Amino acid sequence: MMSEIPLLFKVYPDLRDKIPWMRLTNLPTKVEKLNLLGEYLGINNLWIKRDDQSALLYGGNKPRKLEFVLAEAREREADEIVTMGGIGSNHCLATTIYAQDKGIKPVLFLFPQPLTEHVKKNLSLFHYFGARLNLVPSALSAYWSCLTYCLKRKKAYLLPPGGSSILGSLGYVNAAFELREQIKKKEMPPPKYIFVTCGTCGTLAGLEVGARLSGLKTKLVGVRVVDKVIVNRITLKVLTNKIMKYLGKRCKDIPGVYPVRKSRPGGSSEQSSGVNFNLGDFTLLHNYFGGEYGRVTSEGERILKLIKEKEGIQLDTTYTAKTFAGLVDFMKINRKGTVLFWNTFNSVDLSKAINSVNYKELPDKFHKFFTR
Ligand SMILES: Cc1ncc(COP(=O)(O)O)c(C=O)c1O
Repeated sequence: MMSEIPLLFKVYPDLRDKIPWMRLTNLPTKVEKLNLLGEYLGINNLWIKRDDQSALLYGGNKPRKLEFVLAEAREREADEIVTMGGIGSNHCLATTIYAQDKGIKPVLFLFPQPLTEHVKKNLSLFHYFGARLNLVPSALSAYWSCLTYCLKRKKAYLLPPGGSSILGSLGYVNAAFELREQIKKKEMPPPKYIFVTCGTCGTLAGLEVGARLSGLKTKLVGVRVVDKVIVNRITLKVLTNKIMKYLGKRCKDIPGVYPVRKSRPGGSSEQSSGVNFNLGDFTLLHNYFGGEYGRVTSEGERILKLIKEKEGIQLDTTYTAKTFAGLVDFMKINRKGTVLFWNTFNSVDLSKAINSVNYKELPDKFHKFFTR
């Protein structure tokens, strides 16, 4: 059943009036056992969290983040939401769809990535849903363009890549509470491991904080699908501690983050009682990236076909198939225990919209991606 407010606000009522939020999702998402695939792979307790069905307009991991982000944009009376990603970015697509739905104009700065059918589909959908499109040469120039664009406009809301701001990540703090609730209700056994894609860290960071606060005893394993400069344990440490601090400031029942040692006037030091995340708290798998953002890997392709054939679930080659490939290898060594794959890829069918777009309607600079 759909809850009216996030579980996070139910557990910590102090947060309710202090954090912007609006409903976009259809939660909780289901947890399901993947019997056929598990049997085929020799993994006894293989489960999936169906965040592909997280919302009706467009699913995946972005709607959970946008519930907080768009609420803040609306609170600030933003007339534009400015963000960036590859030309096939799911984050840019979700932001476009939900921002338009709320009457905020999406402005995208997009950089090239390896061309796949999925990339072309998302490009068509950016146009279909009315985003203002800008093509830039690289991720770095996209960052710069977003910043300079927003400096010139007072009512533009700047959203970091992947929607992985502190606020965006709260969507996954809440998701951890949701899973704990499902375990309590015996919808699934407590997972020993949870596998999740790590593209800008917001999803994993949110889950780490949520797991810590809700007492979910599980090992979260992130699979890196972008360059190490973006996804690493330092980024995770900084983001998780920022989230804790943000929550701690707004709710007396949340410990927040304190310096590990506080010095006292007499020169002695005292261990503080807050929650700190340290580098050793995070597990990342680095071998599934494929060397370039968006590059299709053979392991990814193989697993994508397998899960489609056995369970009828569609993954993507940039994010989730790489993550599942990491899970399969990991479970070959760590045979025992329940493992949960957190599916962050959208499964809402947008083929009608895609088919209605003629690529020539897009700005000229984008035509080359359709004729190659
Ligand atoms: C399908 C999918 N999974 C996972 C991610 C990565 O999530 P995060 O950026 O929070 O690490 C993305 C990011 O765009 C995505 O599109």
